[in-house]
Amino acid sequence: MFSVVVLISGSGSNLRALLEAATSADYPARVVAVGADRECEGLAHAEEFSIPTFVVEPSAYASREEWGTALVAAIQPWQPDLVVSAGFMRILPAPAVSALHPRLINMHPALLPLYPGAHAVRDTLADGATITGTSIHVVDEGVDTGPVIRAREVPVRADDSEASLHERIKIEERQLIVETVADIARDHIDLEEISRR
Ligand code: GAR
Repeated sequence: MFSVVVLISGSGSNLRALLEAATSADYPARVVAVGADRECEGLAHAEEFSIPTFVVEPSAYASREEWGTALVAAIQPWQPDLVVSAGFMRILPAPAVSALHPRLINMHPALLPLYPGAHAVRDTLADGATITGTSIHVVDEGVDTGPVIRAREVPVRADDSEASLHERIKIEERQLIVETVADIARDHIDLEEISRR
C-alpha cells in the first residue's frame, strides 16, 4: 500500500481528511505516521486513528540544518512513498528538501505564485483580490516556489475576514489533498516529471 507521512503544525484538518479517506478500502494510500515541529492540536487526530506521531522541535537543535537532518531521520524509518506538508509552518533547510525531493508536497492557501509565505490569506485580502484558492506543489528550496501539481479557485467575498476566507479555502483544500494524494498513489500524477518543469 502507498504510504504517506504527514507533517503538521496546527489544527490538522487536512490531516484528518486524509485519515478519514484512508479508512475506505477503495482509497489507495495510508497515513503511516504524523510528524510535527511542536506539540499541536492536530496530533490528536493521529492518536484517534492509532497512527504513530513524532515531534521534532527546532529549539532542541543548534541550527536549522541540524533540525532538518533530525526531521528527515524521523521520517525515513517509515520509508514513505510520499511526505505531505499539511499546514507545516516551517521552511525545510535545503539538504532536507533534497533528501525527500520530489516526493515532498505542500499545500498553500493561495493560487501560487501569488501570495507565498506564512500569511497568504491576510496578504490576499490586503491586496483586494477577488479570486483566490489553494495550491498543492512539489517542495523545492524556495518559499512556496515549487511547481504546482493542482490548484482550485475560491471566490473572495466583500465581507470576508481572514478567518472566514481561510475556512472556505480549507474546505476546498481538504478535498484537493485527498484527490491529489490518491492520484499520485495511482500514478496518475508523475512527481518526477512535474519537478522537472
Ligand atoms: C492550510 O490552509 C494550509 O494551506 C496552510 O495551513 C492550513 C493548515 O490547516 N498552510 C500554509 O499556510 C503554509 N504556508 P489545517 O492545520 O487545518 O490542516
